[in-house]
Amino acid sequence: MKSLIPSARTAVGIVGAGPAGLLLSRLLRQSGVDCVVLEARDRAYVEQRQRAGVLEQSTVDVLRACGAGERLDREGLAHDGVELSWNRHRHRIDFPGLTGGKRVWVYAQTEVVKDLIELQLADAAPLLFEAPVGAVTGADTERPTIHYTYAGEQRELECDYVVGCDGYHGVTRQAIPDSELHTSERVYPYSWFGILADVAPSNDELVYAHSPRGFALLSMRSHTVSRLYLQVPNGTDPEAWSDERIWDELDARFAVDGAWKLARGPITQRAVLPLRSSVTEPMRWGRAFLAGDAAHIVPPTGAKGLNLAVADVTVLARAFAKLYADGDASGLDGYSDACLRRVWRAEQFSYFMTTTLHVDPAQSGFDTRLQLSQLDRIAASGHAAAELAENYVGDAL
Ligand code: FAD
Ligand code: PHB
Repeated sequence: MKSLIPSARTAVGIVGAGPAGLLLSRLLRQSGVDCVVLEARDRAYVEQRQRAGVLEQSTVDVLRACGAGERLDREGLAHDGVELSWNRHRHRIDFPGLTGGKRVWVYAQTEVVKDLIELQLADAAPLLFEAPVGAVTGADTERPTIHYTYAGEQRELECDYVVGCDGYHGVTRQAIPDSELHTSERVYPYSWFGILADVAPSNDELVYAHSPRGFALLSMRSHTVSRLYLQVPNGTDPEAWSDERIWDELDARFAVDGAWKLARGPITQRAVLPLRSSVTEPMRWGRAFLAGDAAHIVPPTGAKGLNLAVADVTVLARAFAKLYADGDASGLDGYSDACLRRVWRAEQFSYFMTTTLHVDPAQSGFDTRLQLSQLDRIAASGHAAAELAENYVGDAL
């Protein structure tokens, strides 16, 4: 392998090799814009971190167009609907019928990341793993600089622009004075307990379940691997639950009248994640940009986080291409506003899905009846179902 150490100068310095950073790098290189990606963790960790599973049509279009669609087209599962479950019955939301033909894909974020890393390395594009960034300085100057460590050495990368694709706990945001940013946030009084299990999914489509015991979600990674989630109290220790307790609780929450049964299998991974909504704006200050989870977080109930990250960097890559090809900075100037419109729509939808389907420990009987009434409305009204479907499948980019 050729030396991976990039030169000390680049056009666009990218912090973080999650989906946002990797895709941005791919898109920039295809437009002939020089860039370097610096990632704190090692490759195996980045490729295995279990996260999102649902890709919108626009995300799939972007991945295909940049050459990252081959395995997705082979192994991804096209889904034409999801099911909602409440009061021991289910209602199907038919995406193509309600949205003029749109659908979504189930293809794990881990696979998207693997595909993008492979393309990046095949292209000999500068991507350093185990290169944690300590700070970004000079965001308000012509030469913002990324300070990072690699192989025990402190290094500097001078850039025209820096893009923070470093997730919710990233450092790029700290390059921007607090007084220039505004963060709106909501923390939810529950978490998700997610498992991977070696068992064929018990339903062809995802099932989002409201139950008096709390929310549950049935998803999948393939025809042989199930991905399931349970609402649990914040601070739950995943190791404290036996496999049997997990399956019993899932059974109770997905219970419907009739013969349907949840199949059980060996649980291969488990983790608890807290739920949060957060938006930091604007998404640009000087020559520093924020993209993906570095700028905004949604609770996963709407399946939007990865899709928003892809949307941000697609807008940003087009803006950089325009700047470096024609000297036109209007795309960069409009980046934050353009992204925030989509971000706030996704925030609203994710909040709606979360608060309609979860049981808040402080919720009253009245609150529960409102949730059930909302779900009944979705089942009874094509307009209400279409509102959900349109938000779920997302807008064109
Ligand atoms: P990340 O994936 O967080 O990547 C950031 C990268 O930056 C990481 O690799 C990190 O190691 C690196 N980094 C951080 N700090 C530094 C530093 N100082 N120096 C160098 N590198 C650094 N979204 C959906 O769209 N659909 C779903 O179905 C869905 N389900 C989800 C389920 C779960 C359980 C979770 C946790 C999330 C889910 N999401 C979903 C959200 C989605 O996973 C995230 O929105 C997505 O990972 C955002 O990508 P990103 O590249 O912005 O950030
Ligand atoms: C997943 O498969 O991990 C998944 C699917 C849908 C969601 C969240 C997560 O809303």
